Amino acid sequence: MEESLKQSRIIPILGIIITTIVLMTPLDITLAGEEVPGVADETCLSCHDFPGMRTTLASGEVLYTAVDSVTHATSVHGRAGTACVQCHTDIDGYPHREIPAATRREYTLVMYKLCERCHHSNYEATMDSTHQKSLAEGNKEAAVCTDCHGVHNIQEPETPRSNKPKMCARCHSAIFTAYESSVHGADLIGEGNPDVPTCTDCHGVHNLQGPSTAESFHLFSPEICAECHADKELMERYGISTQVFDTYIADFHGTTVVLFEKIAPDQETNKPVCIDCHGVHDMRQVDDPESYVMKKNLLGTCKKCHPDATVNFPTSWLGHYKPSPTEAPLVYFVDLFYKIITPVTIGGMVVFIGADVAQKVSKKRGGRK
Ligand code: HEC
Ligand code: HEC
Ligand code: HEC
Ligand code: HEC
Ligand code: HEC
Ligand code: HEC
Ligand code: HEC
Ligand code: HEC
Ligand code: HEC
Repeated sequence: MEESLKQSRIIPILGIIITTIVLMTPLDITLAGEEVPGVADETCLSCHDFPGMRTTLASGEVLYTAVDSVTHATSVHGRAGTACVQCHTDIDGYPHREIPAATRREYTLVMYKLCERCHHSNYEATMDSTHQKSLAEGNKEAAVCTDCHGVHNIQEPETPRSNKPKMCARCHSAIFTAYESSVHGADLIGEGNPDVPTCTDCHGVHNLQGPSTAESFHLFSPEICAECHADKELMERYGISTQVFDTYIADFHGTTVVLFEKIAPDQETNKPVCIDCHGVHDMRQVDDPESYVMKKNLLGTCKKCHPDATVNFPTSWLGHYKPSPTEAPLVYFVDLFYKIITPVTIGGMVVFIGADVAQKVSKKRGGRK
């Protein structure tokens, strides 16, 4: 342990001696088309490409300062020819300026701002995110660029897509575990299915939102589901009905929610949205024994809001079915009955009253004559 510590110090010191000579005469080098007054990657790496290289921060925490040259070279930035000093614009030789933070986490919170220079629009977008709001409130653990993307090992984020939820897993492990076994997550992580949602399809990417920052997130969540579940072509591939959407909007729960959205978009409602019945990150196929809407679990789900519900309560509601001669036939025929009987009755009355009036008028006229 002591031995390796000594070694890890000797190597950079050797590097310092060699490279201070090199750095005495800074060269203007051309990198990726940009004229960069500064230092070649090889110079930085002559000190930094040593595993185990580290320094100690004011807090006493260790900052590992090794940068693996191969990892950097094969990253998206290495491949694009982005030089060390194009990100590290405040370092142009050794000794470096003072380390800009006292603790390990603060170091990251200062350094991620280096990304802004070239990715201005993503940077701007993150300013409205739930993570930034949380940071502003003093929660230092909320995610910044490098927490999700990495630093010297950054790759294109969409390769492969099944890796995306893993970006979030480090800090949201319980949600990741639930998602992983859900009808959506199992398909993405297991099979790489591009049709199911990953975390960022529902929450957004850089302007990421959640229920505690966007008050109406819960209320408007059916719109997230509609993106796919109202898409006939997509749902046909899985034999899933898109009626779920129309019927929800039409039923007493959905109608009230839709009204709420219009009248008081920022207010909570106690009427169920999709996730109140199906679960959020752990939603299952509806015939999965663990699904909240499976017959044996359904009563428990209704009871969250209808505490007095009894065994037959769920049948008082048609679910997503439109009444038909096979689904809820009684409701269908009662409905049909009223559809026929109402116009017939009203029509009959109109005819009757009309005839009566006509008769009275003609009698009066006849009387006058
Ligand atoms: C002569 C050896 C040497 C060279 C060359 C060198 N460094 Fe360092 N670097 C160190 C040492 C030693 C540390 C530990 C902290 C300290 O002494 O400042 C360090 C720390 C760092 C840190 C972390 C702490 C901080 O100040 O943010 C960064 C970032 C860094 N170097 C970037 C670079 C870049 C970029 C280059 C090339 C322009 C470079 N270094 C060239 C030796 C070197
Ligand atoms: C895409 C921008 C970018 C490039 C290119 C880049 N760095 Fe960094 N570097 C960063 C950021 C951001 C951090 C802060 C990471 C953190 O929060 O720990 C960092 C941190 C460091 C550190 C401190 C240790 C650490 O990993 O946190 C060293 C040393 C360092 N860089 C050296 C280099 C060297 C040498 C190169 C070129 C081979 C290089 N960097 C290229 C952005 C970059
Ligand atoms: C000096 C300019 C520069 C800085 C600073 C910089 N990048 Fe990049 N970045 C690039 C270039 C150039 C590319 C490759 C070309 C492209 O795809 O846009 C790239 C690509 C990327 C990609 C992949 C983009 C894609 O479409 O697949 C990500 C992710 C990324 N950068 C994140 C970061 C992060 C995070 C930071 C801060 C640690 C950072 N970049 C700092 C120039 C920069
Ligand atoms: C909470 C995690 C997270 C944070 C924080 C984050 N990103 Fe991303 N970023 C992603 C994901 C996920 C994608 C892939 C989006 C997609 O393909 O749909 C992405 C895509 C990108 C891309 C490539 C696509 C594009 O939009 O150009 C770049 C570049 C990028 N991010 C840079 C940044 C920078 C710079 C920051 C900090 C200001 C940042 N990201 C913060 C998760 C994050
Ligand atoms: C199908 C859409 C969807 C997907 C996929 C999804 N979420 Fe969510 N998430 C939501 C909704 C809707 C809420 C709001 C729940 C509420 O209002 O009760 C939420 C709430 C949250 C919350 C805050 C509330 C809590 O439970 O702590 C976090 C954090 C979160 N999601 C992270 C994630 C992560 C990480 C992933 C990926 C592993 C993910 N979400 C995948 C829709 C989704
Ligand atoms: C570095 C750790 C970290 C990473 C990585 C991370 N988050 Fe977060 N996230 C947090 C913290 C901390 C909060 C604030 C939690 C709180 O205030 O309760 C948060 C909050 C959230 C919220 C809002 C919760 C609410 O109650 O409204 C959502 C949604 C969320 N994250 C989604 C994601 C997604 C999606 C990803 C991946 C693309 C991700 N996060 C990556 C740390 C992280
Ligand atoms: C990005 C598209 C997408 C989004 C957004 C989405 N889903 Fe899905 N969902 C799918 C696909 C595709 C399947 C079919 C997966 C399979 O069966 O393999 C599915 C399956 C389901 C199932 C299982 C149906 C069955 O077969 O029993 C339920 C329940 C479900 N989703 C509810 C929701 C809810 C609620 C929301 C909103 C919070 C939502 N989904 C958001 C694409 C999506
Ligand atoms: C998130 C809370 C919530 C959940 C979960 C919920 N409901 Fe409701 N439900 C309500 C509220 C609130 C009303 C009153 C609607 C109104 O007056 O506009 C209501 C009204 C009803 C009504 C109309 C008759 C009445 O009592 O007013 C029926 C029937 C009903 N729900 C059935 C169900 C069934 C069956 C389930 C389970 C599958 C269920 N509900 C789950 C909140 C919920
Ligand atoms: C009051 C509880 C409740 C609400 C609210 C609710 N569902 Fe359902 N959902 C169920 C039940 C129970 C089933 C299974 C029986 C059925 O189809 O009626 C189901 C079935 C489904 C299915 C499978 C349909 C198929 O063809 O296999 C999907 C997909 C679905 N719901 C999505 C949604 C979406 C999207 C929303 C919001 C727009 C939503 N649900 C709102 C209780 C609910």
